Amino acid sequence: MIRDWSNFIGGRTALITGSGAGIGRAISMHMARAGAEVWINDVDQGRADSVVAEIEADGGKAHTVIADVCDPTSVREMVATTGPLDILVNNAGTGVRAFGAGGVPLVPFAESDPADWESVMRVNLTGVLHVTHAYLPDMLEQKWGRILTIVSDAGRKGERRQVVYGAAKAAAMGFARGLATEVGRSGVTVNCISLGSMRHGPLAEAADADPELERKMASGYPVGRLGKVDDPAPLAVLLCSDAAEWITGQVYPVDGGYAPAL
Ligand SMILES: NC(=O)c1ccc[n+]([C@@H]2O[C@H](COP(=O)([O-])OP(=O)(O)OC[C@H]3O[C@@H](n4cnc5c(N)ncnc54)[C@H](O)[C@@H]3O)[C@@H](O)[C@H]2O)c1
Repeated sequence: MIRDWSNFIGGRTALITGSGAGIGRAISMHMARAGAEVWINDVDQGRADSVVAEIEADGGKAHTVIADVCDPTSVREMVATTGPLDILVNNAGTGVRAFGAGGVPLVPFAESDPADWESVMRVNLTGVLHVTHAYLPDMLEQKWGRILTIVSDAGRKGERRQVVYGAAKAAAMGFARGLATEVGRSGVTVNCISLGSMRHGPLAEAADADPELERKMASGYPVGRLGKVDDPAPLAVLLCSDAAEWITGQVYPVDGGYAPAL
């Protein structure tokens, strides 16, 4: 029975990629509150530093490490800075350019420009491979590790106009399932959390400006609302704890019931 979360992953070091904002920031805050020492990775120094400051103000332990997860040289430098980890959360990712967000245009596949595909595959798949490949050997050596990748229902269920993004996320799930079978006997678990639409960033601004848009989007969710950035964090902490040693190779939806698990 879990009586106290405050030290649930105490003594563990964790790195959350792309954690200068959004979901990664929220997971980092929860992991720090659960006792882990966290590395905040991002390409944006200002964002990463502000999350570190927030965690420290909250009584936690955190450090910034700037690196582009898609660049193997940058990833090697990141590993040299952090040293071995216990917990890796592959969160950095970009989707489609909806509501003014970064990413590729929200268009049907037939109208997509092949020049846009590469960047989506790079950050959502190749970046996951590079960072996992870099940290895995030490996890295998220490016979303990938790690898968690943040994916999307666009890859699990399929969503129109997000086909290449969905393909990259589906590939990241296939990678996690396969890797789980290779490393299970070394005490390393590999799982994914699959998200629906989260109300933050440009989507939150669009929803604030147009309540009808939010009502329409939320109506597709049995829980009746869009996601909050904190929604996936408690499950992320649980999956990265000792308590989850018999959970591996799985993809868990945190999506208000939008697309039931297969
Ligand atoms: N927001 C959603 O509705 C939603 C839905 C499903 C899945 N997801 C997934 O959740 C994850 C987080 O999404 P978010 O909405 O919080 O993103 P976000 O854009 O709010 O934040 C992502 C952070 O990652 C950083 N980043 C981008 N590329 C990077 C790189 N190459 N190396 C290091 N850092 C990089 C950015 O600077 C940014 O601070 C992503 O993998 C995304 O695909 C999000």
